Amino acid sequence: MTTYLITGATGTLGHLATQALRALEPTADITVLARPGADTDRLRESGAAVRRGDYDDPPSLRAACAGIERALLVSSPVLDPTVRARQHLAFLDAAAAAGVAHLTYTSALGAEHDPGHHRTEQALAQGSTSHTILRNGLYTEPFVERAWQEALTTGVVRSATQGHALRTASVHDLARAAAHTLATPLPGATLELNGPEWTYDDLADAITTRLGRPVRHESVDDAQLGPFGAVHALFRAGLLAQSPADLTRLIGQAPRTAAEVLAVVAG
Ligand SMILES: NC(=O)c1ccc[n+]([C@@H]2O[C@H](COP(=O)([O-])OP(=O)(O)OC[C@H]3O[C@@H](n4cnc5c(N)ncnc54)[C@H](OP(=O)(O)O)[C@@H]3O)[C@@H](O)[C@H]2O)c1
Repeated sequence: MTTYLITGATGTLGHLATQALRALEPTADITVLARPGADTDRLRESGAAVRRGDYDDPPSLRAACAGIERALLVSSPVLDPTVRARQHLAFLDAAAAAGVAHLTYTSALGAEHDPGHHRTEQALAQGSTSHTILRNGLYTEPFVERAWQEALTTGVVRSATQGHALRTASVHDLARAAAHTLATPLPGATLELNGPEWTYDDLADAITTRLGRPVRHESVDDAQLGPFGAVHALFRAGLLAQSPADLTRLIGQAPRTAAEVLAVVAG
């Protein structure tokens, strides 16, 4: 039986990928990497074994990779690219030393402009471990969750997109895609995973329908949106506009729309 290791499994993507792999392969031998002290009760309940380790502790990564055939490296949330690349490379070294046969890495759209992801992708290309790179789009959920909360409290959804469309992907679909590349490895593939296009006008309409009262979209400046402003500027510039083709192929169906994500967020 194939042995799997999934990192970041106490977080959103890794946990959903663990569930998705379990759904694809109900009897699979799945182990997850969790940091010492992290709560792993719900992972154990789903039948995953837990090994403790930390991206900053190479010996713990070597122990975690022992006997593993296929691994999912979920990128570190650390923003400092030097630290992040060091953490990822420590995992790649551990996987190679343990003879992991195939590794999937969750990178990001635009990785060539992101030193942490870029360095990791380069290391994968130069190394000997068979691998798949998943360049994930931005998650749809935080955009929709923020708009939903704004609409509930003010009746207005604000954006700085100035009418430009966004392309984002549901983290549920991205997790399913990652699970598919573990169950059926795609050696050497770099896939750009994005979801369908949507606009804030569409989202305000969908929220209006769901709430049964009018919600309007208001255009504001980047500065009024805090950290989201810089992200909206990317979409205004036409970036992160990759098509959903790779994600659709991997999960075997159309990725979730923003309205479908709203249905989940709004319960
Ligand atoms: N595409 C997007 O929109 C988007 C958004 C946010 C993040 N990301 C990237 O995608 C990754 C997965 O997203 P997510 O939403 O699942 O993030 P998340 O919920 O923050 O999960 C991050 C996971 O990484 C683990 N981790 C952090 N530092 C670690 C370390 N030193 N050693 C081992 N494990 C460590 C965390 O463990 P603990 O539970 O112990 O903290 C957690 O399980 C993020 O880490 C980030 O690189 C992408």
